[in-house]
Amino acid sequence: MTEPAGETLSNLLREERRFPPPPELAAAANATAADYERADADSQTFWATAAARLDWAQPWEQVLDWSGAPFARWFTGGRLNAAYNCLDRHVAAGHGDRVAFHWEGEPGDTRTITYAELTEEVCRAANALQALGVHTGDRVAIYMPMIPETVVAMLACARIGAPHTVVFGGFSAEALRGRILDCDARVVITSDGGYRRGKPSALKPAVDEAVRECPDVRSVLVVRRTGQEVDWTDGRDVWWHDLVAGQPAEHEAEAFDSEHPLYIMYTSGTTARPKGILHTTGGYLTQVAWTHWAVFDVKPERDVFWTAADIGWVTGHSYIVYGPLANGVTSVLYEGTPDTPHKGRWWEIVEKYRVTILYCAPTAIRTFMKWGDEFPARFDLSSLRLLGSVGEPINPEAWIWYRRNIGQDRCPVVDTWWQTETGAQLISPLPGVSTCKPGSALRPLPGVRAEVVDDTGKPVPNGSGGYLVLTDPWPAMLRTIWGDEKRYVDTYWSRFPGMYFAGDGAKKDEDGDIWLLGRVDDVMNVSGHRISTTEVESALVSHPLVAEAAVVGATDPTTGQGVVAFVILRGDAEQEGAAGADEVATELRAHVAKEIGPIARPRQILVVTELPKTRSGKIMRRLLRDVAENRQLGDVTTLTDSSVMDDIRDRLPSAG
Ligand code: WT7
Repeated sequence: MTEPAGETLSNLLREERRFPPPPELAAAANATAADYERADADSQTFWATAAARLDWAQPWEQVLDWSGAPFARWFTGGRLNAAYNCLDRHVAAGHGDRVAFHWEGEPGDTRTITYAELTEEVCRAANALQALGVHTGDRVAIYMPMIPETVVAMLACARIGAPHTVVFGGFSAEALRGRILDCDARVVITSDGGYRRGKPSALKPAVDEAVRECPDVRSVLVVRRTGQEVDWTDGRDVWWHDLVAGQPAEHEAEAFDSEHPLYIMYTSGTTARPKGILHTTGGYLTQVAWTHWAVFDVKPERDVFWTAADIGWVTGHSYIVYGPLANGVTSVLYEGTPDTPHKGRWWEIVEKYRVTILYCAPTAIRTFMKWGDEFPARFDLSSLRLLGSVGEPINPEAWIWYRRNIGQDRCPVVDTWWQTETGAQLISPLPGVSTCKPGSALRPLPGVRAEVVDDTGKPVPNGSGGYLVLTDPWPAMLRTIWGDEKRYVDTYWSRFPGMYFAGDGAKKDEDGDIWLLGRVDDVMNVSGHRISTTEVESALVSHPLVAEAAVVGATDPTTGQGVVAFVILRGDAEQEGAAGADEVATELRAHVAKEIGPIARPRQILVVTELPKTRSGKIMRRLLRDVAENRQLGDVTTLTDSSVMDDIRDRLPSAG
């Protein structure tokens, strides 16, 4: 485990401006200071009140059963249907005509989908899945672009109690296969492709390749989006428009147990094998709906909410699909990239749909900063009233730029800390209550207990750094790692007994407010995407040229971190030396993209003859990070051979 970085923090603390809530927002805010008091007095009653915002077919008996810790059960005995809560109940309440999604395709085609229409589509898709033989409890994999059918597919699964696993469309066939096999999905929902950077980008070929070695997948349901050519396997492949369109638009939503699995989301850990994070129904929906309502202060009758993230990540699950729909809010869903066809695309969308709340990642904000102030300045952003950030630490410069250039110095910026595992936001300002500090997520939300502890698990005093832990269970917490209870306990609950170890370094400032400092384990954060160093290393060593590999995340001005790989080549390959190094690097970068996906492609690959190791054989990534970030080397005394580092330095392309 590496030390939390002190240097990052001193940079963060140089920005001293403070931003209290705008008085009009505070006066009408959904969440108030009283929520902290209520939750502090009795967190279970607080969560019961939050759960009561949902429709339950049968009330729960107990708010929290923690007797099997660290395996939690929330709202035990309660029964509900997640899709019913996201759809039917709003229609029943007379809001069927409210827009659920303003969908914007990258080429400029659009669809406006009301709650009534979405409900009918989901009912048809639920009937279609059942016609394909999908039963309650069966897993369904979804590999899709950002189109309305992706939301429909997820909710159709939820409606029939079939846990979905959405795999980000940027992942490779290999990665998709691993996930399908790990959770034993029998049906895959995909599309011919989606639009990215002005062109159709195929998805079906990756499914064909993945499923070739998944003998238990019996159906592939294919949405036509781009119209591109697809290979077809008769008896297995089914067009969405053939099967779904002909189904009845009514479907009885069965209520499931509060702890019924809702979905599995794979995320990278410190080993090469991704972890299937399991979320269940009642607690997850309660906390996602409550945080979406409180942190974004949404008013369903007038807000237009936009999470500019992919549905293939947890951010999309919680704050494009389940949170906004549970609250009956109107959202924007955008298919493509921010610079297609021009660098003002996002701001054009804000203007067009009068977006009031925008939620995105610091990496996007830093990219917009780099492109220049003139792009947002060309559009009318006056509809915006609140901005959110998620996925990685936001540096104060980016925070201030976001507030000034997008929020026109009047919108609060909420920096929300959470994880795939936490399901919902846990540490964040409340926009009507908190005085924001650029770069700080401030304090745990009502009903959440977090601490910063030292190596021995003791809380650190204000002004000190340490490791972020959660000291109490929370409703949207992961229930386990799919198929691997031991790994669940080992990964999260063993480092500090009785506490959930998040894997992040953090510091408490003099006021006790929390500043997140990035991962302290072997996990990188590239553009807000979590990538395991070990996963990239194992992809590299699976290439015939590579004998050994070490990967580190090096600070990157735009993406937060960039993947830097140090590789030792096998015998013959090594003889080629520096001459072939460029080709080797190109080949290996492509190989990683193929094995995992383009997001994991190393920014830089350095061919070396040895790697720095401790006497026990552990690679010292800290030293490699020093090299990758062009820093003075730290302590080398625990190395078996300290000349290794001189050799690595000598092989570096000269600085700059
Ligand atoms: C890791 C979780 C949360 C959904 C998207 C990422 C980092 C997340 C923040 C933030 C500082 C943050 C942490 C965390 N992270 N939000 N506001 N400030 N760091 O989900 O892929 O599960 O990654 O992202 O390091 O552990 P994820």
